[in-house]
Amino acid sequence: MIDVHAHLDDARFRSDLQELLEQLRAAGIRRVLNSGSSHASCRKTLKLAAENDFIYAAVGIYPHDTGELEQNGMEELEKMARCPKTAAIGEIGLDYYYDTVARPIQQKWFHAQLELAERLRLPVVVHSRDAMRDTLAILREHPRNTGIFHCYSGSVESLREVLDLGWSISIGGVVTFKNARVLREVAAAVPADRLMLETDSPYLAPTPYRGKRNSPLYLPEIAAEIAALRGITPEEVERITDENALRMFKMA
Ligand code: NI
Repeated sequence: MIDVHAHLDDARFRSDLQELLEQLRAAGIRRVLNSGSSHASCRKTLKLAAENDFIYAAVGIYPHDTGELEQNGMEELEKMARCPKTAAIGEIGLDYYYDTVARPIQQKWFHAQLELAERLRLPVVVHSRDAMRDTLAILREHPRNTGIFHCYSGSVESLREVLDLGWSISIGGVVTFKNARVLREVAAAVPADRLMLETDSPYLAPTPYRGKRNSPLYLPEIAAEIAALRGITPEEVERITDENALRMFKMA
């Protein structure tokens, strides 16, 4: 199985990371695309990727950390984006849930990082929270970019627009929450070739681990839930999502 979005560089993994990495190998987790969110976490992500063959890096500055780009520009990010194990730009996007960084600033750096991804021909991991309309409007201005909406939280109608733009979505532990009615509809409706699995570890652990530290070890719980919603086997979910992830991201 492949986890297209995790934060194994998070402090919550510091005490037992080596042990967890061994467990991931033993469990047959084939790839983890670890996402940076700030310059510091991108550096940690690249180190993890350099030390572990099955870990790949997404490098990008998260909407609420775009103040770093205001200060220092894109030079360091571009350097990191050119590293051999960088498989994507991300996570980048818009987050209007918290207004810690003004929306025009978030938008400016979303544009700039999409341009970097296009120039380096890298797919993009998008974070969009309470900002679907503006996210889609910006992506429409960048028709040559492609990638995934991670932890997709939009409606079934927005999903159509995401698909029309040629983008994919990844779904994580929230799909196992019984009150996630819309996401469960989305998980059943998304075409098989546009779906990937993620954990967003250490956040958003699936049922029955909800509230605990999440890890890619819980991918099977997510795959099983999606399989039930689509009326197919977990093995089939694993097969199609692995295929999609390897086609989108260069994780040889
Ligand atoms: Ni994330």
